[in-house]
Amino acid sequence: MELIDQLQQQLDQLSHAQLRRRRRVVGSPCAPAMQVDGQPLLAFCSNDYLGLANHPALVEALAEGARIYGVGSGASHLINGHSHAHVVLEERFADWLSPHIPSPGALTFSTGYMANLGVLTGLGGPHAELFSEELNHASLIDGARLSRSQVRVYPHGRIDMLAELLGQSQAQVKIVVTDSVFSMDGDIAPLPAMLALCERHGAWLVVDDAHGFGVLGQRGRGVLSHFDLRSPYLVYVGTLGKAAGVAGAFVAAHETVIDWLVNRSRPYIYTTASPPALSHALMKSLDLIEGDEGEQRRAHLRALIAQVKHELRDMRWQLMASETAIQPVIIGSNSEVQKAAAALQEQGIWVPPIRPPTVPADSARLRVTLSAAHTREQASRLTSALLAIDSLDLCPAP
Ligand SMILES: Cc1ncc(COP(=O)(O)O)c(C=O)c1O
Repeated sequence: MELIDQLQQQLDQLSHAQLRRRRRVVGSPCAPAMQVDGQPLLAFCSNDYLGLANHPALVEALAEGARIYGVGSGASHLINGHSHAHVVLEERFADWLSPHIPSPGALTFSTGYMANLGVLTGLGGPHAELFSEELNHASLIDGARLSRSQVRVYPHGRIDMLAELLGQSQAQVKIVVTDSVFSMDGDIAPLPAMLALCERHGAWLVVDDAHGFGVLGQRGRGVLSHFDLRSPYLVYVGTLGKAAGVAGAFVAAHETVIDWLVNRSRPYIYTTASPPALSHALMKSLDLIEGDEGEQRRAHLRALIAQVKHELRDMRWQLMASETAIQPVIIGSNSEVQKAAAALQEQGIWVPPIRPPTVPADSARLRVTLSAAHTREQASRLTSALLAIDSLDLCPAP
């Protein structure tokens, strides 16, 4: 079988370059203490920033949702899959975003990946020019490609270059797209300056707040609240499998944009609607996020971030300039990052190595993420283990 042999050869090449990926099998709920391939490990790698993924109230809400709505939605939103549970959730998102987007509407998607494809293919097209941040998430990159727009990539954080590109553009429709919190670096895009540029040039600003929703802003309402932004040019994507602890995503924008997406966004139209029970559980998740419990969890998370940054201040490996729950440790080489992850695992700690193409070449890293579910003692176990391996020579010269 020549075709299989070709693939096998390519997989062997990936192994040789220390880029082969394998999946670890988790045998317990998402929490700091996990069973991984049968071994107990203390995990610092989930995006469950508020520790809601295994919250008893959400487990109960999902079970209740299943009792009310059953399990499957049965069809797409435009056939018979659009349930009361989706509608109520959309109204709640529109209400949450109403201080930031005039006349807002909202639309739920099954995943953040699909929401990003849905927005960019819906708004873009051959008549559009799309300005994309260099470190944007893969789903935005894929959405940009699929949209058939003219794509211009500007370097990370270089708003001056974005301004230059916007100034040169003759396109009928201009779309600037960015992660809010960069998923592999943890820093936050300078959205106020970007929005000012977009308003000046009549461009949409699509903000993927996958890592900000639930964590940043007043009562966890996300990055638009964090920066106190308001504009009809804003198109906001929030994902619901990270801080919200469940699954799915939503887009919030002016109601006309939402109506357009319902009519034209293929990743919204041509797929089975997510189970309504998930939307039911998400209503509970939003209660937790905006309530006092959410406030306490965010305060604890902020304390953990400060603690970890302080305890690692003298480490040889660099932490990035991040104030968020994403605290990557830059190692550089693919083989060294694998050895660092293995050394942590020997101490019972799970931080997966992140390598290219997820991050640029020579910037392999341990992507440490913190959650409100971690205790201060657990955070100290992580920092002690990192400091212990930081002083080892993991890749001695042969
Ligand atoms: C910035 C960003 N956007 C979008 C996504 C995709 O969201 P989802 O996992 O819900 O598909 C992710 C991660 O998964 C992400 O990190």
